[in-house]
Amino acid sequence: MVRPYAVKGKKRRKREDKYERVEEAEEASEPEETEASQPEDVNKGAMVEKQSNGNEGEEKVGNSIELEGIPITPVELSTKNGPGAIFILERASLEVAKVGKTYQLLNSDDHSNFLRKNNRDPALYRPDIVHQALLMVLDSPINKAGKLRNVYVRTAAGVLIEIKPHVRIPRTFKRFCGVMLQLLQKLSISAVGKREKLMRVIKNPVTQYLPVNSRKIGFSYSSEKLVSIHNYVAAAENNRDFVFVVGAMAHGKVETDYTDDFISISGYPLSAAFCISMICQALAGKWDIL
Ligand SMILES: C[S@@+](CC[C@H](N)C(=O)[O-])C[C@H]1O[C@@H](n2cnc3c(N)ncnc32)[C@H](O)[C@@H]1O
Repeated sequence: MVRPYAVKGKKRRKREDKYERVEEAEEASEPEETEASQPEDVNKGAMVEKQSNGNEGEEKVGNSIELEGIPITPVELSTKNGPGAIFILERASLEVAKVGKTYQLLNSDDHSNFLRKNNRDPALYRPDIVHQALLMVLDSPINKAGKLRNVYVRTAAGVLIEIKPHVRIPRTFKRFCGVMLQLLQKLSISAVGKREKLMRVIKNPVTQYLPVNSRKIGFSYSSEKLVSIHNYVAAAENNRDFVFVVGAMAHGKVETDYTDDFISISGYPLSAAFCISMICQALAGKWDIL
C-alpha cells in the first residue's frame, strides 16, 4: 500500500491562530473548567471592580495575577502627535457561560434556547454590536494617523476592558467571539512573542484613565441637543483630547456621570458602528486626515 500524502509519524503542524498563542505563563495559570450553573459565574472572574470594597490591592479575582503591577496610567499621552481621541463603548454584551461542556461567549443566534432556559432575554445578547463598533474605530483613518489613544469597552456586567489602538481585531464574528472568550477568561491577551498586552481587563472606573483636560462627550439618540457632529467637533478647542462615549447595547440609553456634554448627531437612531463612523469622519475633517 502506498501512503499518498504524509509520512507515517510525521504530523503536520497545525496552523496556529495568532491570538491562541498567548504567553506560556498565561496558559499555565488557566483555571480548570468547573461546572457553572448560572451564566454569570464565569463573568465574575473578570469583574475586578464590581467586587471591590475599597481594598483594591487585596483583590484576588480569577487570573488576576496578570493584572498585578500593571500601572494605571494608561493612556500614552503623546503630545508629539497633538490631541487625540478615546472611545468608550458602554454596556457591551460580552458574557461568558458554560454551555454544554464548553465555555462560550453568549449571543442571541447560537444560544437562544440556553438563554431562555436561564430566564434571560436572548435579544439582549449582541456581541456583534461591539464587534462592528470596534472594527469601525480601529479601521478608521484617525487610527491609522495615530490619533486614536485607546478604546475602552465596559460590559453590561461592569467589566472594563482596555484595547490598544494597534490591535488587529478578528474580522469574522466567530473568531472575535473566540478572542473575547479568551480575554474574559485570562484577563489579558498579548502580542505574539511580546509581553505587551493588546487587550486586558482593568479596574474601574474608566475615568482614572482619561486625560485630565479631555472633553468627554456622550452620545444618545434621545438627547435634546441635536447637533451636526462636523460643526461640533470643528468648533472644539484644538488643544484638548476628545473622549466619545457610545452605547454598545441592543436597547436603551448610555447613562454615565462623567460626560461634560450629551449630544444627538442625527434625527434617526443609528447603530453604534455608524455613529462611530460619523464621529471618525468629523475628526478626520478637523485634523485634515484624508
Ligand atoms: C443603543 S446602541 C443601539 C445599538 C444598535 N441596535 C446597533 O445595532 O448598533 C447605539 C448607540 O449609538 C449612539 N447613537 C445612536 N443613534 C444616535 C444619534 N442619533 N445621536 C447620537 N448618538 C446615537 C448612542 O450612543 C447609542 O447608545
